Amino acid sequence: MCGIVGYLGPLNPKDVIMQGLKKLEYRGYDSAGLAIIQDGHTKLIRAMGKLQALDDKIKNESWTGHIGIGHTRWATHGVPSERNAHPHKARGITLVHNGIIENYHEIKERLLAKGAHIASDTDSELVAHLIAEEYEKVKDLKSAVERVLPQLTGAFSIVVLCEQSPNELIAFKDGPPLVVGLGKGENFVASDVQALIKYTNEFIYLNDREIVKLEPSKVQLFSSHGVAIERKSVTLNWSAELTEKQGFAHFMLKEIHEQPRTVAAAVNSHLVENSVRLDRVGFNDQNYFENRETLDVEKDWQNTQKVLQGVERVFIIACGTSFYAGNVAKYFLEKIAKIPVEIDIASEFRYRDPVIPKNTLVMTISQSGETADTLAAIRLAKEKGALTLSLCNVKNSSIDRIADGHLYMNAGPEIGVASTKAFTATLAILNVFALGFGKIRKSLPVKEEQELVASLRALPSKMEVVLSYDKYFQAAAKTLKDFKGFLFMGRGTSYPIAMEGALKLKELAYFHAEGYAAGEMKHGPIALIDERMAIVMVAPRDHYFEKTVSNIEEVRARGGYIISLGSGDDQALKRISKQYLPIPVSDWMTNPILFVVPLQLMAYHLSSELGYDVDQPRNLAKSVTVE
Ligand code: G6P
Repeated sequence: MCGIVGYLGPLNPKDVIMQGLKKLEYRGYDSAGLAIIQDGHTKLIRAMGKLQALDDKIKNESWTGHIGIGHTRWATHGVPSERNAHPHKARGITLVHNGIIENYHEIKERLLAKGAHIASDTDSELVAHLIAEEYEKVKDLKSAVERVLPQLTGAFSIVVLCEQSPNELIAFKDGPPLVVGLGKGENFVASDVQALIKYTNEFIYLNDREIVKLEPSKVQLFSSHGVAIERKSVTLNWSAELTEKQGFAHFMLKEIHEQPRTVAAAVNSHLVENSVRLDRVGFNDQNYFENRETLDVEKDWQNTQKVLQGVERVFIIACGTSFYAGNVAKYFLEKIAKIPVEIDIASEFRYRDPVIPKNTLVMTISQSGETADTLAAIRLAKEKGALTLSLCNVKNSSIDRIADGHLYMNAGPEIGVASTKAFTATLAILNVFALGFGKIRKSLPVKEEQELVASLRALPSKMEVVLSYDKYFQAAAKTLKDFKGFLFMGRGTSYPIAMEGALKLKELAYFHAEGYAAGEMKHGPIALIDERMAIVMVAPRDHYFEKTVSNIEEVRARGGYIISLGSGDDQALKRISKQYLPIPVSDWMTNPILFVVPLQLMAYHLSSELGYDVDQPRNLAKSVTVE
């Protein structure tokens, strides 16, 4: 989704904005632009396509000034074009915008009737016109923004620059994320801390319907009605290096290779010798965000037990890759904690008028913590009285802040649009969650807990082994180019892993691929099978194995090309597959984490072999903050 960067201070705003936008590229975009006040005038330049195109346009210009805004646009209203790119200007007012103004037709008609000259097809430009109108009346930028807000409906964030008042930026958030970065004699605002980590590690997170006024040495927060708000800043310790490629060809490849470490980081703090402690969840702790780092973990674990004891069923809600992680969790929780689990796509859940019985825990999974549908779903669940738990990667994100309880992937910034390390970190923490819940519900024998914890501890080194086989996955990927389509199949937890494998291939290599429960093959997909169809079978040695082998035989009989992934040196699978990829032997709960890695790598290699943009596949956005 769109990315926003704003800066005021002694550095050259052009450099800060361009570097910040570069860090936001992962969000997905089709055009970009920046505006800087220079010698009393707003210099505005925009370009279609990648940031490089904007860079080419601005590099021979002279850039001075001390205040500016920049934007990467992901088209919603109006096709991707230079004319529709941001910033948008109306008289002395220039703005960047992320989100959607729902009543834009009506505003446009009103403005046109008054003779406004509207230069783009966007909803964003209209807001600039409205603010310009109000500014002419009140001659104060914050008041002008305040007066426009009641005229707008939708979910949107804006940052506004004013030629006549060149020492302030006004930002407003209602929906898409905005964070303020604090510096000495300089201040920043952006869609994501990643744009600002290079300059500061001190941030103020805006809540919905808050306005912020930034000056070089002052930041003031207000409600949308102009009432002052006090908020402590948060210090983050993600270093800038974490967001660099560190010698890998792509962020995605780097992130795939980080997985042994990120999986360990996700679970280690919850493992105490050979048992699990589901702590640091902060259920219903009003001061959780201030005290998170100094929480009494033993007390928090007691609290988690008390709260979860009363839970009778779990709903898991998410989108995309996070949804597939939720599907795996259903198997974990039902078997280990003996609790009924429903799983839902957020965009379905939120509009379905779902029935949420008493004593339900609604758990959302979201890497970004900003996905619009998941955010709406958790809001709805709260309104309906459910206990809510967020599992996300980005601390202090909107979903995190709304939830009653909090778990983190701890995977560090994920830049590649297609999620990899956040997925495996999620599965790892879901292992812990299921074990912790099983203990609370007394459905997990101590011996089983000990064995599963031992297996979790052994997981990073097994992941290293999988990664060391990369050349085989790369070779396998090379053979896939000429197939007309792909079916990924598995049973049990391998079914959502198959869906995730198919998703990776669609996202990265633009192949038609479907993920199916192998048991469903006879109900349709079998009709597709011939020698031009590649079938990827996820077939670990678990209690579904014999059934999966029968499915492979059925594919073989119809001439399908079989690539199977199995546990260790599985002779039976080798015999019946065209290609066999061995995965280190593990237990049923950690298998999904190991088996997804080759699927990530195959999609990665195929995409880079075909010359596609691996880190920013076409039409996709990292964080889908609008519907
Ligand atoms: C987008 C991303 C996916 C991601 C999904 C959900 O579609 O491209 O990689 O899985 O959003 O994102 P979330 O941040 O909620 O996990």
